[in-house]
Amino acid sequence: MTVHFIGAGPGAPDLLTLRGRDLIAASPVCLYAGSLVPEGVLAHCPPGARIVNTAPLSLEQILQEMQAAHERGLDVARLHSGDLSVWSAMGEQLRALRKVGIPFTVTPGVPSFAAAAAALESELTLPGMSQSVVLTRTSGRASPMPEGEALVNFARTGSTLAIHLSIHVLPQVVQDLLPYYGADCPVAVVWRASWPDQRVVRASLSTIEVAMGEGIDRTALILVGRNLGAEDFGHSRLYAADYDRRYRPLGTAPRFPAGSE
Ligand SMILES: C[S@@+](CC[C@H](N)C(=O)[O-])C[C@H]1O[C@@H](n2cnc3c(N)ncnc32)[C@H](O)[C@@H]1O
Repeated sequence: MTVHFIGAGPGAPDLLTLRGRDLIAASPVCLYAGSLVPEGVLAHCPPGARIVNTAPLSLEQILQEMQAAHERGLDVARLHSGDLSVWSAMGEQLRALRKVGIPFTVTPGVPSFAAAAAALESELTLPGMSQSVVLTRTSGRASPMPEGEALVNFARTGSTLAIHLSIHVLPQVVQDLLPYYGADCPVAVVWRASWPDQRVVRASLSTIEVAMGEGIDRTALILVGRNLGAEDFGHSRLYAADYDRRYRPLGTAPRFPAGSE
């Protein structure tokens, strides 16, 4: 018996890995984390599976579900939205399972920042502009920010920011970032990236609050940075004709010559 932690992706049911799909289909128990995990993903559960929404459960109750499946020798698919490596609460569950010796696996998923970048048709790292993406959030009731991780500290770097769990404090986010990024810095809010009702609002730091309109709450990412929508960036050296790289050392014939396909 194994508990399979699976990143269920940002919302679209087909943004799930094949491994994740197959593990869900092979697990007679499925524990999923509330409204962010799409119904379409749950459709992969086998007929008769025990499917439990863990949103109203405490950590102890979730662990009891896993323990009960363990005692019956039943595999569990444990679904969290996006990828498991950020804000999934997987860490505390793994720690508890290690303590009691219940085996588990971890299967990554498509994170919401990647789905939001896809919605914007943007590369978040552009040559000569920004080469780092900061995945961050602001303080919440459940998780205060550690000292040193205040938004202004990341803002000093000029990196592209992907700010999660913070749409309800947008005015504060804008105020914190204005001195570092400037009023004309592009901002995009992507609500429900990859869902059928996905919405994208593009504006600047000084106009985003007005541009937002009504109805965008909770499941939204705030992306900030000069990269967004930029066209005046340099070429990456990767495809430059005079760039000596491992798969095409200078002075050798290309491995896949033009016209060989
Ligand atoms: C608890 S965190 C989960 C993050 C998730 N593990 C990931 O990999 O993206 C929830 C936050 O992620 C962001 N988020 C999750 N899914 C999203 C989506 N489809 N579109 C936009 N933002 C999303 C929102 O900022 C939301 O408040």
